[in-house]
Amino acid sequence: MGQVYSSLLLLIAFLVPLAVASAEQGAPPEGRRLFIEKRCYSCHTIKAEAAAIQKEKEAFAKERGVETKPKGEEDKIGVDLSDIGKRRDADSIRSFVKNPKPYFKTDYECKSKAKKKYRKRFKGTADEMDCLVGYLSGLKYESHQAADFKSCLKEGE
Ligand code: HEC
Repeated sequence: MGQVYSSLLLLIAFLVPLAVASAEQGAPPEGRRLFIEKRCYSCHTIKAEAAAIQKEKEAFAKERGVETKPKGEEDKIGVDLSDIGKRRDADSIRSFVKNPKPYFKTDYECKSKAKKKYRKRFKGTADEMDCLVGYLSGLKYESHQAADFKSCLKEGE
């Protein structure tokens, strides 16, 4: 009886740290997955998580039998989102992703950027949106944006 009891204790001692470790991983990987699935990666980088993003991209491409853009191409269009959770709260990210157009400046160059973006605005379920927004608002790394990047977004919105 004592033996059964102590092996049960051993089992618990083994399982508890496992459960804690998986809870600690925190950031929902489904959100990262949606970032790929909804093609956000085609214009945006998350350089602070570059390795994980690349892995997710490769897994997605393999699973769907599609080609993803070569590494680095995204830099030319969007903005790096490594620090987006520091710059916008969840509500602001949600409202931006739902309808980005009003956030853009309206000069010639930015107008065309906004149009391109507008066409690609988020399409998906409310759950997917929650998951994606949860992931993005948790990105609080240092900025990885190139110093010469000129934003097309209106200031402070
Ligand atoms: C067709 C290209 C394109 C795609 C696809 C795209 N974006 Fe963007 N996104 C942009 C551009 C351009 C900006 C504005 C960058 C700037 O000028 O500062 C932007 C800005 C943003 C911002 C605000 C950044 C800031 O600095 O405040 C967020 C958040 C964002 N995008 C999220 C997403 C998400 C989530 C997806 C996928 C559902 C996505 N984007 C897909 C082009 C794109």
